[in-house]
Amino acid sequence: MTSIDTDERRLTTKSKDFYLDVIQSLTEVPKRLSSKYFYDKKGDSLFQAIMNSPDYYLTRCEMEIFKCQAKEIVDSLIAPTLDFELIELGPGNCAKSIHLLRTLVSANASFNYVPIDISENVISELQSFLPNTAPGLRFNGLVGDYFDALAIHSLLPATRKVVMCLGGNIGNMTVVESNQFCKKLRSYLQPGDQCIIGFDLVKHPAVIKLAYDDRDGLTRDFNLNLLTRINRELDADFRIDQFEHYCSYDPLTGAAKSYLVCLSDMVVDISGTTIRFEKDECIWTEISQKYSKSQIHQMATDNGFIHTAEFLDSRSWLMDAIWTAV
Ligand code: AVI
Repeated sequence: MTSIDTDERRLTTKSKDFYLDVIQSLTEVPKRLSSKYFYDKKGDSLFQAIMNSPDYYLTRCEMEIFKCQAKEIVDSLIAPTLDFELIELGPGNCAKSIHLLRTLVSANASFNYVPIDISENVISELQSFLPNTAPGLRFNGLVGDYFDALAIHSLLPATRKVVMCLGGNIGNMTVVESNQFCKKLRSYLQPGDQCIIGFDLVKHPAVIKLAYDDRDGLTRDFNLNLLTRINRELDADFRIDQFEHYCSYDPLTGAAKSYLVCLSDMVVDISGTTIRFEKDECIWTEISQKYSKSQIHQMATDNGFIHTAEFLDSRSWLMDAIWTAV
């Protein structure tokens, strides 16, 4: 690697972190890129299109659960009789949780909704959307890292908390990472606090494979857009037409993985740092882990929770689990 110091100086602090992470992950064996970088403006709109696509079932399943079972979900929460904070990690456009919020508001529950997102854009859109969509809702959005924001809220241990993590986001961690995430989450909670976590369940492998290799090529474009983003933001020269989207699903481990396959030997320059690629070498860009019901129950007990209730869509493809901290 050459001249990191010289060229790095031209990058802003934010893109410097991005640059350092990209260089580090592309010098690992096998090469990696984090899926958290999918979500630039173009990536957000491609993800929106993926969620509406007929082959990507996760959003529709979870929407069905929240639309049809919001009342039952509320009934299974300990909190509604008390003052509580409903904290949502990565709320997106709130399309699923809005059903729960409206149900709680009409039940006169005494709660404050706290959506937390790293994107300022997400939070500012919610600020203008929520007052009209859920009149009477008390909320304050926070921009930042989930755990930094949770740390502030855990300074108020007397207030009951319900933390939501929907959208199968926990699936974008390996099994080891998701257990670490749950343990860390538990450390910010008091006994009796609860979580609502969306897990994509194991199902016919062909259904899962198609969700990450949709017939309209949206997931392909979503994956390749990561290289376009690196070219633009980190002054790199990836030849995008020399990379192909590939995804696999292993029914034995429940891991759906996406890769970018390099189609020819090449040298890529990223802000002055050169990275070599060999023909057919793969960059691992995403994991979307699927779980069995028993694995979810086990994950709760392994990390200081009781699996209190579960809500499934009509095909039993996705589960929103309610866990209570012990
Ligand atoms: C955000 N996350 C849960 C999606 C998933 O299913 O892993 C991201 C995604 N990647 C490709 N398609 C959708």
